[in-house]
Amino acid sequence: MRDPRDRRLSRIAGPSSLVLFGVTGDLARKKLMPAVYDLANRGLLPPSFALVGFARRQWENEDFAAEVLESVKQHCRTPFDQRVWDQLSLGIRFVQGEFDDDEAFERLKATIEELDRERGTRGNHAFYLSIPPKAFELVCTQLSKHGLAQAEPGTWRRVVIEKPFGHDLESARALNDIVESVFPPDSVFRIDHYLGKETVQNILALRFANQLFEPIWNANYVDHVQITMAEDIGTGGRAGYYDGVGAARDVIQNHLLQLLALTAMEEPISFNAEDLRAEKEKVLAAVKLPDDLSTHSARGQFSGGLQGGEEVLGYLEEEGIPADSTTETFAAIRVDINTRRWAGAPFYLRTGKRLGRRVTEIAVVFKKAPNLLFRENGDEDFGQNAVVIRVQPDEGATIRFGSKVPGTQMEVRDVSMDFGYGHSFTESSPEAYERLILDVLLGEPPLFPRHQEVELSWKILDPFEEYWASLEEQPEPYAPGSWGPSSADELLARDGRTWRRP
Ligand code: BG6
Repeated sequence: MRDPRDRRLSRIAGPSSLVLFGVTGDLARKKLMPAVYDLANRGLLPPSFALVGFARRQWENEDFAAEVLESVKQHCRTPFDQRVWDQLSLGIRFVQGEFDDDEAFERLKATIEELDRERGTRGNHAFYLSIPPKAFELVCTQLSKHGLAQAEPGTWRRVVIEKPFGHDLESARALNDIVESVFPPDSVFRIDHYLGKETVQNILALRFANQLFEPIWNANYVDHVQITMAEDIGTGGRAGYYDGVGAARDVIQNHLLQLLALTAMEEPISFNAEDLRAEKEKVLAAVKLPDDLSTHSARGQFSGGLQGGEEVLGYLEEEGIPADSTTETFAAIRVDINTRRWAGAPFYLRTGKRLGRRVTEIAVVFKKAPNLLFRENGDEDFGQNAVVIRVQPDEGATIRFGSKVPGTQMEVRDVSMDFGYGHSFTESSPEAYERLILDVLLGEPPLFPRHQEVELSWKILDPFEEYWASLEEQPEPYAPGSWGPSSADELLARDGRTWRRP
């Protein structure tokens, strides 16, 4: 499964290890360990690469290797190849311990030194904190105290942190102070896995590699933009994390505001990290909140019922959720962008669990043409042009435009022109985590938000969160399999618009 383009572009990691904290978690098992294997299978990891697990379990190296193998076999994207596994497993190590156990961190240090000597990882190590944020401080402090965070000249140490980056602006700042007191800013890699998705990177290609879209990508032509991330699942056994966090903090603060930034930003002078992040930050800083948050936001909580012919539990009945929880499982907001390009064309963002189907898309909806010639037909329900970027599933893009219906009359109806990754390319898209882990090992930061972006995103979300908290009421219930609460429809209806049915 080696991808010849990867080799041609020399995107192969150098000697290094990935030290994984939180190896027993869902993310590690379903995404991270399989992604490491897929990278190895594509020939993008060096023979000296090592994977170190750190956890409380009483495991030996072999037990951990067996766990990795099982997760790889269950979740890897590329076909399983015994020879690749045999090579990868030579560098698998496990360190047993608690986060506050000094001896465990000394053992981790010894393991890393052994890998440098015996396997040639050459002092280059990335620490991936796939752990609850409340443990970040302790682990960072331990890494520093035991001399694991400091790189010798000619080597590197990096830290990877998973969202949520804090709970609000203040806690995000505090978290950042802790992490950056131990690791220099350019060694901190914040993962927003949406940025690793092929279609999300394609927003930049679509916009800036073509002449077709950019001239009309502004409020002169665009009526509004809808960004939807819908999931058909509930909390999926993640009650402990999700409750008290809710849809807006879980997804709008990071994934959806990143999608907004990429859709709305100006063309960067290059794709290097500084230039790209600077443009994203400019547009996030220009976001203007509605004067009236009550009419420009909506939130909901799914109830139990039938979804796709199957009886599902309501949020409050899911395991581990308090019966009086006010956490929202659906959130929608309107924001405006105070720039010359976007003034007058609002952005609507919505996300929810247990909705009609799993889909993430960005729909840029254009103003209607005057349609003077077609008015006499009486039917003006056409010509709402849209460019829809489908992030997932069926990755691709669609353009909607009016077309003449065959026949003797000049009747016009909207049709779609479709580009699908699956049809146009033979290569399958790598998983977001493959791309992002490789970038960490290569030290390439463009796809990782820096702290300023995180702060700006909290500044946008915090007022909505404060408003919702002040209501002290249950979010509006919505039926599983629906498209959210009626207040979400009203939010757009007030502006004379409707949500697309993706
Ligand atoms: C995560 C959220 O960031 O993204 C989850 O915490 C959500 O709640 C997940 O289910 C969705 O990711 P994807 O890649 O399946 O769209």
